[in-house]
Amino acid sequence: MSVTSILRKDKTPLRTSKDTTPPKVRRMRFRFGEAAPMEHLFINGNIPLSHGLAIGNAAIPLGEETMLRAVKKFMKDIEDPVLKKRVVGFVGQELVHSKEHDRLNDEHLANLRYPIANSVMTVLREGTRSFEALVKLEDFVGVKLHMGVTAMLEHITATLGRRMLANEELYNMPGADPEALKLLTWHALEELEHKSVMFDAYRYVGGSEVARIGSMAVVVIGLYPVLGPLVLLSILRDRESWHPLVVARQTAQIARGPLLKGLLGELAEFMRPGFHPDDIDTEDLVQEWQLKLFGANGELVDRLR
Ligand SMILES: [Fe+2]
Ligand SMILES: [Fe+2]
Repeated sequence: MSVTSILRKDKTPLRTSKDTTPPKVRRMRFRFGEAAPMEHLFINGNIPLSHGLAIGNAAIPLGEETMLRAVKKFMKDIEDPVLKKRVVGFVGQELVHSKEHDRLNDEHLANLRYPIANSVMTVLREGTRSFEALVKLEDFVGVKLHMGVTAMLEHITATLGRRMLANEELYNMPGADPEALKLLTWHALEELEHKSVMFDAYRYVGGSEVARIGSMAVVVIGLYPVLGPLVLLSILRDRESWHPLVVARQTAQIARGPLLKGLLGELAEFMRPGFHPDDIDTEDLVQEWQLKLFGANGELVDRLR
């Protein structure tokens, strides 16, 4: 069965990606802390942003690992050779993401007074009880819902990736750790390159609209109520970060800035029945950044292994 001829039970054709190029796997090695040791507040001295990104960086490998467990379960059911190659490219990219984010976690952020990030790094690690409970939960909900959650997570990373690459205030943030910024721009680019792979795989196995839409509804409702207290707790437990007026001012700036302003609305686009990731055109942005990072004089050519 061709990817483009997938039908729902009601026989209405569902859109799948027109770009069938498998994502290119780039083996990267970033030079965290080589030019200068990473500073505690590594994002421009910004307290909430540094704490929030440290927690995000700790969580990224966990999110990517659950996606890879989903892939393992459904890969045998994919007979379409084109989709199969795209999934293999997706897996390759995510494995490198996990590895580089883990290096940043283990070699730097783990030593930089981020108590919540440190807990996130360890709580769901293989071999722990919480890890076993998560794997059991994934098995319990079944492969289709697991894949639906994965497609939903990919919409979140693609949305953040697009914001990162489209806003100079983010990709050129003055005072941010330069190597961490490089990591984020590379990751952002690859999230856009493979943004539709899991979505198409989910449709291929006949995943329902209700499950994927419901999983995003949970995120839209719960994102700030969960993330906000976690960041606050992280700041409160790091005595040197507790400057209430500065934290309040910086938080207000972040809420109005290109990272968070309007974010929930963009995430909610995923909840429209019939939505496909290609509905949001990122082709020009991807081409521009492929050239900028990996073209003849690309900024990250020397980070390729
Ligand atoms: Fe990723
Ligand atoms: Fe991804």
